[in-house]
Amino acid sequence: MSSQQYKTLKGMQDILPPDIFLWQKVEQTARQIFSTYGFQEIRTPVMESTSVFSRSIGESTDIVEKEMYTFTDKGDRSVSLRPEGTASVVRSYVENHLDKLPAPQKFYYAGPMFRYERPQSGRFRQFYQIGVEAFADSSPRMDAEVIAMLERLLSGIGLEGVSFQINSIGCGQCRPGYRDALLSFFSEKKEDLCDDCKRRYDKNPLRILDCKASTCRQQRQGAPRITDHLCEGCRTHFEKLQTLLSLLQISYSLNPEMVRGLDYYTRTTFEVTSQSLGAQNAVAAGGRYDRLVKEFGGPETPAIGFALGMERVIELLKLTALRSAPSPSVFFAVLGDAAGSACLVLAEQLRKQGRWVEVGDAASSLKSQMRRADRMAVRHVFIMGDDELRSGMLKWKNLAGAAQGEVKLSDMELFLAGQS
Ligand code: HAM
Repeated sequence: MSSQQYKTLKGMQDILPPDIFLWQKVEQTARQIFSTYGFQEIRTPVMESTSVFSRSIGESTDIVEKEMYTFTDKGDRSVSLRPEGTASVVRSYVENHLDKLPAPQKFYYAGPMFRYERPQSGRFRQFYQIGVEAFADSSPRMDAEVIAMLERLLSGIGLEGVSFQINSIGCGQCRPGYRDALLSFFSEKKEDLCDDCKRRYDKNPLRILDCKASTCRQQRQGAPRITDHLCEGCRTHFEKLQTLLSLLQISYSLNPEMVRGLDYYTRTTFEVTSQSLGAQNAVAAGGRYDRLVKEFGGPETPAIGFALGMERVIELLKLTALRSAPSPSVFFAVLGDAAGSACLVLAEQLRKQGRWVEVGDAASSLKSQMRRADRMAVRHVFIMGDDELRSGMLKWKNLAGAAQGEVKLSDMELFLAGQS
């Protein structure tokens, strides 16, 4: 059987150098920035009982209805690969009594998610998210802090040209009234909606507002706005958030049609989009979910979070950032077996100081070793043969700058420290 017969599954991909260096840069920057806001890492399994997702994300959402990788395991349990991170973190929060930790409890995660969607540019069946969830703080200050942290992360990794949109989708008190207003608005137009929205009309009419079908776009013109139906508590929360975002100098626009594709949200929702991406232009998204912990059997606990889509962020970075793959700082071109052994020892010493060191193959010619060093974009090449071993003087070459010279073997560490 030829290895060519094996390919990644549709909608899944390998992440290879040099792209992987961008991935690592984003992950490192996220960890660093999140730590300055007191967020700590949490790791949950990639697979959970199906009900963890279906009950929280919502039985009638696209994710649960059509997109989950669900199967029965050998113990006859229905399990699913996680389509997102929030439900698992809330499950863990309740199961491990994380509410007992000093409040607010703030977590982040990074890892693969799985949705059986129709693959297209920016949409995968295995994709990676970096997400955060903050528990036990209902204040709009926490909303502002989480949005500010996302903004810091995006600008920290050098992403430009993204825009923030925010909305409030109300709470258990005001949303039923809004739902009724929508139902009566669409009651005459129901037959002109797409098939999905005909079903949504009964199950979740808010979703009609972000349907992409042109007929639904047309039919919803003039629809009542959620922000005109907020109760006093939701309205002041949303106004305070806007004041705080302005104070933090975060630009945003209001999008009363942004309702999100997951059912657990209450009050604030937000999305970051980029003009440079195609149809799948949401780079990150999130919101408040003040009822979810209780629904999982935990104490009444407000919460808010977001997740960013790594593939989309990387796609954007590739448009702008210089892809600087790391390269070795030292390459030993070796002539003969004794020189090869001596360089092996030297390389170990330099690696202990955190340098990337490569040793050439003593069986290859000097020319082919130099070619290899050049291809790897090595900074310094040192040439070591029997003469150098005897004299303790090494010839070096800086491949990029074409500088060269000699250095005493015993001075090498000092020499390299001066060069970096
Ligand atoms: P979401 O909007 O479903 O929210 O996903 C967040 C981000 O994940 C999207 O904005 C997008 O960048 C990326 N994403 C989603 N699906 C795909 C896909 N098939 N391929 C590539 N990227 C994708 C959530 O998942 C919520 N858990 C966010 C959250 C956290 N809300 C509160 N806390």
